[in-house]
Amino acid sequence: MKLNSANINVMVKACRLAGKTIIRDYGEIENLQVSLKGPGDFVTACDKKVEKILIGELQKARPTYSILSEEIGEIKNDESFKWIIDPIDGTANFLHGVPHFAISIGLEQNKEIICGIIYDPIKDEMFVAEKGNGAYLNNQRMRVSSRSKLKDCIIFTGGPKHESDNRELALKEYINFSSRVFIPIRKFGSAALDMAYVAAGRCDGFWQRNLHYWDIAAGIIIVKESGGFVTDFAGENQYIQNRTIIATNSKINKEMIEVLK
Ligand code: IPD
Ligand code: CA
Ligand code: CA
Repeated sequence: MKLNSANINVMVKACRLAGKTIIRDYGEIENLQVSLKGPGDFVTACDKKVEKILIGELQKARPTYSILSEEIGEIKNDESFKWIIDPIDGTANFLHGVPHFAISIGLEQNKEIICGIIYDPIKDEMFVAEKGNGAYLNNQRMRVSSRSKLKDCIIFTGGPKHESDNRELALKEYINFSSRVFIPIRKFGSAALDMAYVAAGRCDGFWQRNLHYWDIAAGIIIVKESGGFVTDFAGENQYIQNRTIIATNSKINKEMIEVLK
């Protein structure tokens, strides 16, 4: 790992430890899949267990930092530093035995994300970034792709997930994309990994609405530090407030916004 600031080391250590528990529990899923009750409750318990490990490690190293985490919500402390945690992003995949999910942790300083980590324990892929110091996949520096025309690209998206999500709009956007640009669109079920893959140049862009801050906090800095753009659907930086996000390489952001209009 080329990034080795104190905060990055804390995040890496927490992910490695929690990753072991995820792998162990994932191994149990197959057995539970065939049971009458299914693995639902077990997965919820695993989510919480992983969260507890992450928070325990982060608090041990940084006792004064605040926390926002998906399952338990806010732990208020010194507000100038805050961990933003999604213990398992891609829970539906995990539940069904699909090996595509990740831990996601972002670190905010004065409301700005300064570090991010997305760890896929199954593939042992760790995507890490720190403001001003670049982004790395394991030991390799990451760069976004260089495709400049949407027609040559592969694009990721996800959702809608909840009854309350704007499904008509999400569907309209999907149809717009498939019919106007006629390119491969993929839904892999983990917004965090979708963004990590944009950063690694494995796909060229990603869009989604109705995401939560913990889904994207780490992804934002990882994409930016890989040379990519992150905006809301209007091309501004209100992605957290507006709950619309576009993450792309540096070339196709405008064209994406155009299609999503
Ligand atoms: C979900 C995943 C998924 C996205 C959903 C998220 P979870 O997070 O990121 O890709 O489409 O909107 O809620 O529930 O697996 O942590
Ligand atoms: Ca999530
Ligand atoms: Ca989650």
